Amino acid sequence: MSSTVISDIATLVTNDPSLDGSGNSPLGLVRDAAVVIEGDRVVWTGESSKAPATDNRVDAAGRAVLPGFVDSHSHLVFAGDRTEEFNARMSGRPYGAGGIRTTVAATRAASDAELEANLTRYLTEALRQGTTTFETKSGYGLTTGHEARALRLAARHTDEVTFLGAHIVAPEYADDPAGYVELVTGEMLDACAPHARWIDVFCEQGAFDGDQARAILTAGRAKGLRPRVHANQLSYGPGVRLAVELDAASADHCTHLTDADVDALAGGNTVATLLPGAEFSTRAEWPDARRLLDAGVTVALSTDCNPGSSFTSSVPFCVALAVRDMGMTPDEAVWSATAGGAAALRRDDVGRLAPGAYADLVLLDAPSHVHLAYRPGVPLVAGVWRRGVRVV
Ligand code: NIG
Ligand code: FE
Repeated sequence: MSSTVISDIATLVTNDPSLDGSGNSPLGLVRDAAVVIEGDRVVWTGESSKAPATDNRVDAAGRAVLPGFVDSHSHLVFAGDRTEEFNARMSGRPYGAGGIRTTVAATRAASDAELEANLTRYLTEALRQGTTTFETKSGYGLTTGHEARALRLAARHTDEVTFLGAHIVAPEYADDPAGYVELVTGEMLDACAPHARWIDVFCEQGAFDGDQARAILTAGRAKGLRPRVHANQLSYGPGVRLAVELDAASADHCTHLTDADVDALAGGNTVATLLPGAEFSTRAEWPDARRLLDAGVTVALSTDCNPGSSFTSSVPFCVALAVRDMGMTPDEAVWSATAGGAAALRRDDVGRLAPGAYADLVLLDAPSHVHLAYRPGVPLVAGVWRRGVRVV
C-alpha cells in the first residue's frame, strides 16, 4: 500500500485535543504540521519535521488542512425547485411546513434517473466545498413506493440514509393523520427499513405532534433504525425532550428552546445539530449556539440542504453564519462542522485526523481554518481527499 505525506501545513486541525499545544482549543491544532495517509486511512499526524518517510509527497505550501466536513443533515432526494416560494418569503410571507407539498408533487413525478442526477449534482457541489461525509433523507415521496425509492437511490451514495416518511402528513391523508401514522409505522416502515440506518420525524405544528413522533420513532427503533428528530424548528414543542428521552443521536434545528430543553440536551447523549442555512433562508431567528455550548451541549453544524428552507450545500457558509450570528467562535464552528457532525452520526472514524480515522481531508487556500469565517463566501477549498484519494 503506498503512503503519502501532506507536509508544510501551516495549521492542521486534528480534533484530537491531546495534540493541542495551547491547550485551549478543542481542535487539536498542530502548527507546521504534516499528515501521513496510507490507503484510505490517516496513519500519522504531527510536526512536519518529524514526519516518517513516505512514497509520495504533497506540499501544502503553508496552507491549512482540516478534516472533511461531516454534513449530518440534508434532504437531497427531490425534484423541482421553490424559487417562487423563496421570493415571496423575502417579500414578507412566512415559512411553513406546507411548502413541502410542492416538492412532494415534483419528486413523485420525477423518474429515478432525474432524481439521481439531481442528487449527484448536489453531492458534487458539496464535495467541492469540502463535504466528505453526508447524511441524506427521504421525505418528499410520502407513499410506500416513493419513500422506498428515495432511500434506495440515496443508499447508492452514502451509508448515512434516513427514513423521513413522517416529514408531513401525505396529501392523500389530509383528513386522516392517524391513518398516515399507521401507514408510516406499518407497511411503509417495513418497505423502507432495509434501505436506511436512521428514522426521523418532523415534530412540529403542521407536521407531527409529540405522541405521533414517539409512536413513529419507537416503531422505527423496533425495526432496527436509530432515531433522530427535526425538533423545535418553527416553534417551542416536545421534539427536543423526546429526542433525548429516546436517546436519538441528534435533535436537529433547536431554534426554539426552553431552559428545560437545554437542560435535557446537556444531561443526555443527543447532539444539537444547528442548521443556520434554514434560518438564513427563512429569515428566522437564529438558534443560540452560545447558550447550548455554555450549558455543555455537544453542537453539530450542518447545511439542511433542501429546496424549501435551506438551498445551500455549503458547510463553509454555515460556519460563517454560526460565527457571525450564533455566538460561536471560529474554532467551535469548525469543530461542530467536523467532529460535531460525526458525533451526530455516532461516528468516530470521520471528523478527525488521527491515526485510524478515514483520510478525509480538506486543504484550504488560506493559512488557517479561521478564514472560513473571516472570508465568507470565498471559495477557499483548494483540495479534498476522500478515503485517501484526492477528489478535488
Ligand atoms: O429541515 N423542517 C422540515 N424539513 C426541512 C424543510 C423541508 C422543505 O421546506 O422542503 C427542514 O428545514
Ligand atoms: Fe431538515
